[in-house]
Amino acid sequence: MNKFLVTGAMGFIGSHWCKFLLENGKTVYGMDLEPTAPELLEYKNFIFIHDTIKNHEILQNAVNQVDCVCHFAGIAEPYQYLKYPRKVIDITAVAGIQLIEMCRVTGKLFFFTSTSEIYGKNTKVPFKEEDDRVLGATTSKRWCYASSKAIVEHYLDACAMSKELDYLVVRLFNVYGPGLRGRVVSNLIDNALRGEELVLHGDGKQTRCYTYIDDVIEAFNLLLFDRNCYNQVFNIGNKRETSVIELAESVKNSGQFSSDIKFLSHNQCYGEGFEDISIRVPDISKLQKYTGWEPKTTLEEGLSKSIKHRKNELTKIG
Ligand SMILES: NC(=O)c1ccc[n+]([C@@H]2O[C@H](COP(=O)([O-])OP(=O)(O)OC[C@H]3O[C@@H](n4cnc5c(N)ncnc54)[C@H](O)[C@@H]3O)[C@@H](O)[C@H]2O)c1
Repeated sequence: MNKFLVTGAMGFIGSHWCKFLLENGKTVYGMDLEPTAPELLEYKNFIFIHDTIKNHEILQNAVNQVDCVCHFAGIAEPYQYLKYPRKVIDITAVAGIQLIEMCRVTGKLFFFTSTSEIYGKNTKVPFKEEDDRVLGATTSKRWCYASSKAIVEHYLDACAMSKELDYLVVRLFNVYGPGLRGRVVSNLIDNALRGEELVLHGDGKQTRCYTYIDDVIEAFNLLLFDRNCYNQVFNIGNKRETSVIELAESVKNSGQFSSDIKFLSHNQCYGEGFEDISIRVPDISKLQKYTGWEPKTTLEEGLSKSIKHRKNELTKIG
């Protein structure tokens, strides 16, 4: 495989993945709404398609050029999927299925970034890929994200069952690192760098498993270039559980910040009826069995790199 289409190429994960492919001599067609990762434009083997994936004709042309389509475009910031649920469903599910159809007809591999949100409110620890999805009512907006990802997973499974398409699905657990925006890790770093209070949602006791971007890119590489991994779903995540309070303390320690910590209720942040998940841990035994992958970056190392990168960015902006 030498030619890739990456939707959402200028986003956090998309830009890291494009950079990895480009550094390894691959040709990348990167599609996004804005050139927010301008460093990619420096690569001769990068073709930027400055357009929405809703532009069917442009998308079809791009699919025709490549061996593999990586569908990363999406609305990944929680406040956005509460505010713009139609957009979430449209980009992830509607455009996603249109893109799968293009791949099915032209015989292209489809690589999809799904999410740990897919397990919903299931209280099991840790989550295995075949575990139940436990979701709230369709009137609760937060579940539109998980449901959109799930319908794409179903559709891929159905296409592969009839041997019409090869795919790879990864379910990501709280990926962070340089370039992240609008998620808990980047928000806390921005709060600290601006000398503001670190704002935690809820009581801060909810835990997540924060996974550094370089480790995730390594897992993508191991999975995508091994045919034995195709037509399957894999969790990718660090098994270390960290409460949001611990995360805030680690941000303070890693950057030697003296900010205070402030708590806001979920209702204050997201409005009435927001359902948070208290614990979410990946079982990565399947990924380890297939690839031998282990996350290498500690939270402290990952936060230090993220803080350094953000400081440089803010210095450049001035
Ligand atoms: N970061 C995480 O922890 C995480 C966890 C689980 C799943 N994911 C999934 O991984 C993917 C990438 O996430 P991310 O964290 O890099 O998010 P991101 O917001 O940084 O990147 C998404 C990109 O998609 C682009 N996009 C949105 N609508 C588009 C459209 N109509 N046409 C073209 N591009 C469009 C955005 O401009 C953005 O650059 C998403 O599908 C997300 O759901 C991320």
